[in-house]
Amino acid sequence: MKLVIVKDYQEMSRKAAELLAQEVKNNPQTVLGLATGGTPVGMYRELVKLYQEEGIDFSQASSFNLDEYVGLSSTHPQSYRAYMQENLFRHINLPKDKAHVPAGDAKDLEKECARYEEAIHEAGGIDIQVLGIGNNGHIGFNEPGSSAESTTRVVQLTQSTIEANARYFASVEEVPTQAVSMGIKTILGAKKIVLLASGEAKAEAVRLMLEGEPTADVPASLLQLHPDVTVIVDEAAASRL
Ligand code: GLP
Repeated sequence: MKLVIVKDYQEMSRKAAELLAQEVKNNPQTVLGLATGGTPVGMYRELVKLYQEEGIDFSQASSFNLDEYVGLSSTHPQSYRAYMQENLFRHINLPKDKAHVPAGDAKDLEKECARYEEAIHEAGGIDIQVLGIGNNGHIGFNEPGSSAESTTRVVQLTQSTIEANARYFASVEEVPTQAVSMGIKTILGAKKIVLLASGEAKAEAVRLMLEGEPTADVPASLLQLHPDVTVIVDEAAASRL
């Protein structure tokens, strides 16, 4: 894995946005794999700036988000669809019908998972997948124990993830306990992967991802099995390396 250590959150965000912008410039039909969480907010802000300043054209691109909470409709303010709308989609010319987020409120979730996996396949696979990392080493919502063979499915969130994400909800009780998430195999199927981490709280997960044995106990460590991963971390997140 290629490790890039930058000074701070701002530099991490800028670098990641530049990578994505470059990808779209090189191939206007790029299939983007997108992530949510606090970490990529700055990256989206920088990407929107690049779009406005340099006129990057997303009209032929498409995107697939990693995950969505089960039970939240796309208009729920804490849904990942709403997050994407707010932070990226409403600012750029990515066609609406090509900006995919799993439907967490689908009646038949199993069918939705199969449909999502198939849609990625039909789009020709993901060209560049952006990832954050959970404090426990999760990627997407692939919690510890997720198999390297897993594909898009309904997953149970761990208590630590529910607590970590409670900051976005009025109370911890409101955080959904399940999500639809691309699997590890889906993620490893992307041609390129860019993982972002910022801050001291991620330092141990970053260390285990890069220096530990690849194990399902730390899902991010399974990225060691992929040939083209760039990890962009700030100094605080790199402090245990
Ligand atoms: C959530 C998301 C992940 C994200 C993680 C870390 O659980 N499903 O994709 O990487 O949180 O979030 P943050 O960037 O807010 O620390």
